[in-house]
Amino acid sequence: ELTSPNAHADLTSIKERRTNSTSRPIEDVNSGKNEVLFNEKKTLKRHLGLFSGISFILGMIIGSGIFVSPKGVLIQTQSVGLCLVIWVLCGVVSMLGALCYAEIGTVIPLSGSELVYMREGIGSVHLRTGDILAFVFNWANTFILEPSSVAILSLTFSTYFLSGIMDSCGPPIELVKMLAIFVVGVLGTVNGISVTAANRLNIAFVVCKTVTILVITIGGLVRIGQGYTQTLKSGFDGTANNPLSISLAFYSGLWAYSGWASLNSVTEELKNPKRNLWLSIVVALSSVIILYLLANISYFTVMNKAELLSSDAVAVTWGEAVLGPVVRLLPILISFSALGSANATIYTSGRYFMVGARYGYLPEIFSCIQKQRLTPLPSIILITILTIIYCIPSNIGNLIDFFSFVAWVFFGLTFVATICCKFTKPKAFRVIKVPIPIIIFMILVAIYLVIAPVISSPNVGYLIAVIILLVEKINMFFQEFFDLTIAVVNIEA
Ligand code: ARG
Repeated sequence: ELTSPNAHADLTSIKERRTNSTSRPIEDVNSGKNEVLFNEKKTLKRHLGLFSGISFILGMIIGSGIFVSPKGVLIQTQSVGLCLVIWVLCGVVSMLGALCYAEIGTVIPLSGSELVYMREGIGSVHLRTGDILAFVFNWANTFILEPSSVAILSLTFSTYFLSGIMDSCGPPIELVKMLAIFVVGVLGTVNGISVTAANRLNIAFVVCKTVTILVITIGGLVRIGQGYTQTLKSGFDGTANNPLSISLAFYSGLWAYSGWASLNSVTEELKNPKRNLWLSIVVALSSVIILYLLANISYFTVMNKAELLSSDAVAVTWGEAVLGPVVRLLPILISFSALGSANATIYTSGRYFMVGARYGYLPEIFSCIQKQRLTPLPSIILITILTIIYCIPSNIGNLIDFFSFVAWVFFGLTFVATICCKFTKPKAFRVIKVPIPIIIFMILVAIYLVIAPVISSPNVGYLIAVIILLVEKINMFFQEFFDLTIAVVNIEA
């Protein structure tokens, strides 16, 4: 049985809220009175200290990327030196991005992240533009970002899991996809049935991640001590020199750091946020940068460039060389690390879709909660089905490019929104104030990351054409749908 969180409001008022642009669900930016019209967010208890903040971020960021992206970065950079530089740069960009998000997250402290930043941030300069961008973001997020992330993560899970239990010849791709689809179904069911079970699962997976990454980094340091440094010594030999194609290396690296944008969900639960928020971002991301750098160095102590490029599961190849008899354990741990992120992403998607539906950007059914189990069941079913569709035709590398392109369009727009708010909401409480030049730098980074791949890689170009067409079609459909709803409401009235 489903219940709508707006059950207290009758259907007409929901329709009015959707169609009447003056009745805005949250703080009315134009009234200047900061009047709260419809604030669905309860205040949460501040119970997380600095340490919890840092572990939360680590748990959210570390997943599949460090085990699958090294190949993608090396393909585009062609040299060990540039490869390592890109890994560090991706970390720095993610850290600056997270700081910008921390700022806008406290100016607009509502759930829905980019959706509300478009609506309230860009909308505070131009209402209609903000609204349209919020709408487009919501659709891109629902149909591209969330399901493609879960697909990448579950495909990584099955690649590594099957490599762990099968012979070294590598599992057939059909089997990889079938297992990925099966686990997506299982995770969807768990998330649809019980919030507690989904959360417990998460904690277990965070332990797997930590153990795995420590094994690889420490193993690497030992190998260096033993003198396996030939590949590392090759430095910048053979470096690719096309700045456009290097942008695709960033896509692979940034995937491994992705997750920083979901940090805002903890802001209001942090104790002493003025100090702990920026500090946990800086400490956590610096730790991730160091861990990722060491992990990559560790891979290069085992494989040369050609070997790394020909391996489908680099960490398995690494394990075979370094761990000997316990090699089977490593891929299994890695697969659970990816599975943990898949589980967390399904969990948060359910909440995202719910917020989108409350704003009227998705059909109302997705704002419903299952009455007995209190889970956003319709949203969970949607993300599960969409993810399965993504698992069928795709390979992990293409999915990562697909995800990163769309994600950076909206990261860029969120940075623009952060600047807008500096002018339109100068007096709002800010837990951190990022200097404008840094935000402008991040906007330029986003522009580079969105434009360069389109020019350098025709694949990404086609993709964008498809997305633009789709968005146009969906928009047209929605316009007609809205007109119809307004007509129906008028007739009823
Ligand atoms: N960085 C993670 C990884 O390497 C992916 C996190 C996906 N979650 C997300 N919200 N984008 O697998």
